[in-house]
Amino acid sequence: MAETEFGPPIEASMWQADLFAHLTSHADAERDILDEYVTAAKQTKSKALSYLVDLLIEDEIRHHTLFEQLAKSLKTLAELSGAEPEVPYVDFQKVDRSAVLEVNQRLLTREREDRRELKRLQRELQGVKDSTLWSLLVDVMRRDTEKHIAILGFVDKHTR
Ligand SMILES: [Fe+2]
Ligand SMILES: [Fe+2]
Repeated sequence: MAETEFGPPIEASMWQADLFAHLTSHADAERDILDEYVTAAKQTKSKALSYLVDLLIEDEIRHHTLFEQLAKSLKTLAELSGAEPEVPYVDFQKVDRSAVLEVNQRLLTREREDRRELKRLQRELQGVKDSTLWSLLVDVMRRDTEKHIAILGFVDKHTR
């Protein structure tokens, strides 16, 4: 993947310039980790390792993208161009507050059900937890679910 391709913000304040440098260097570091995972997946003869590394690669691609979006958004804000930043402003309260609350509540309920279901499933997989990857995968999904609940929790907190 290419190195971060856009320059620092023009006329940024000190902290904005510092933060921009951190964000872009982190985006580049994420890309390096990604390259290492891709190499590892190609070189190993273990199907299990390559399967798991593929999962991590999906995450690392997302991390790289998120850092780029953060850096671009900071640049947009610092340059005071009035353009919409790629990472949107927190607008839950301003736009369609009751509809946001309603749909968010529904999603939160689903995620909490999912959390209970995954916990139950993991107990069922207790017997094969060292001989298969299944329990590990359910564990990963439980962690994802915690993340989903945290994201929806943020929305809820900032919409009320
Ligand atoms: Fe990462
Ligand atoms: Fe989920």
